[in-house]
Amino acid sequence: MPDVRIVADAAELANVGAAEILDGLKRAGRENRPFRVALAGGRTPRGVYERLAALGSAGTASIDWSRAHVFWGDERAVPPDSPDSNYRMAREALLSRVLIPEDQVHRIPAERPDPGAAADAYEREIREAFHLSPGEWPRFDLVLLGLGDDGHVASLVPGSSALEARRRLVAAPAQEYRGTRRITLTFPVINQAAGVLFLVSGGAKAAILRAVLRGDDGPDRYPAQRVRPERGSVLWLVDRAAAARLLTHD
Ligand code: 6PG
Repeated sequence: MPDVRIVADAAELANVGAAEILDGLKRAGRENRPFRVALAGGRTPRGVYERLAALGSAGTASIDWSRAHVFWGDERAVPPDSPDSNYRMAREALLSRVLIPEDQVHRIPAERPDPGAAADAYEREIREAFHLSPGEWPRFDLVLLGLGDDGHVASLVPGSSALEARRRLVAAPAQEYRGTRRITLTFPVINQAAGVLFLVSGGAKAAILRAVLRGDDGPDRYPAQRVRPERGSVLWLVDRAAAARLLTHD
């Protein structure tokens, strides 16, 4: 059974999620290295980012953000000021409230007319930021992921051509998803991470969370089940409402 931590509600999920991220940042500081994190989009992470900003700005001196390099796990093909932008959500909730050097915020250029070109540009930016040699994979310190109600993670959605990507760091599937084209990290990148933190909140996720964690519909039925870091940890941080079906025997 993967590491599942059940917390009371969305507020506690925000507290615990923020603490997990802060722990990674502080560990990087102690080890004198960068902290490279890929943020999740959607609704659930907003509370975590707001809590993180509150912790980070309260005693700003106590938290050294200078080592943080922020990336995104995925983005909708919309401008950065769009209400649908994962970048905009993170900037409002966190990045506008803590001191992270601007050149360490690696936004996906999703406003470009060609999402494929945006994916190529983002892939180049990741390679540069991680100082990768050809053939090397980036190893994020932490990848944050939500869980879609169809079992998707990032924009790796059921039936997507990106599910099978083996050489690309970043993909821009031709299929739209819920009204927009998407740009997404691929599984080889996610599965190189040192840590993956799932954030799952609310009763609407209870059925899919059970199906993913219990394998009710098979071991690889849902994209989320392909998250298996080779040399990394996975923590499922879920609130009680989302975990409601985990402990039942029906
Ligand atoms: C996105 C996210 C997506 C999200 C899940 C869960 O761009 O929408 O990256 O993968 O994490 O859909 O979203 P909620 O947290 O809003 O339920």
